[in-house]
Amino acid sequence: MAHRGWSGIAPENTLSSIKLALEEPKIHAIEIDIQLTKDGVPIVFHDKILDRTTNGTGALKNKTLAELKALDAGSWFDEQFAGEEIPTLEEVLQLVNGQKPLYIELKQVGDLYLGLELKTIELIRRYGLEDQCSLISFDHKSLQTCMKIAPEISRTLVMMGSPLLLAEQVNEIQATSVSMYAEYIDQLMIDSLVRNGTEIVIWTVDDPAEADRIASYGADVLFTSNRPDQLWTREAAMV
Ligand code: G3P
Ligand code: MG
Repeated sequence: MAHRGWSGIAPENTLSSIKLALEEPKIHAIEIDIQLTKDGVPIVFHDKILDRTTNGTGALKNKTLAELKALDAGSWFDEQFAGEEIPTLEEVLQLVNGQKPLYIELKQVGDLYLGLELKTIELIRRYGLEDQCSLISFDHKSLQTCMKIAPEISRTLVMMGSPLLLAEQVNEIQATSVSMYAEYIDQLMIDSLVRNGTEIVIWTVDDPAEADRIASYGADVLFTSNRPDQLWTREAAMV
């Protein structure tokens, strides 16, 4: 799965990074992050602050869509992407349009983005992409809200650390997948997820040795990666 689009070769969470991921047949799925603009539009962006990946400054939540659209989200990565805009979720849904599964990470933190869940779901429904999208979040209450509004759209619990009662957490919100931080993955964790029949996603793996370690636990997993090409090059070489 391409993390923030194919973010190792294009600026993260932009239409360019997503187009590249769509064009590459070896990439199975795409992950993006979303937040809400000041005027309530779901927009595709990772950090809460604009400074690292745009020429803007300050908190995203204090800017309107028009203000955010005026920013350059490409030059920080490479001059060839100068002028790249921050895309809205709607633009990304139109582009992906069910060609590959889209994992939409809600960057919700408590009540920071009131209405983010409903607005996201309304867009997914408007484009008829309920079966091609999974809603994912570190904020598990946000996923519970999603379950109440749209039980038909799959949910992915993102986890950091070594959670206890993992299967119970998954069952509580009827998640189809969990997304685990790679360094914490061990055989016991993998075995309990396999027993539970849960899709296993591992973030974020760019190092082929790390991919080999996790693959040695014997389960089918989906690696989330900034540089998926580094993983499949190694696989091809081994064959
Ligand atoms: O897929 C989960 C992963 O994207 C979570 O981390 O910070 O890259 O959104 P982050
Ligand atoms: Mg993410």
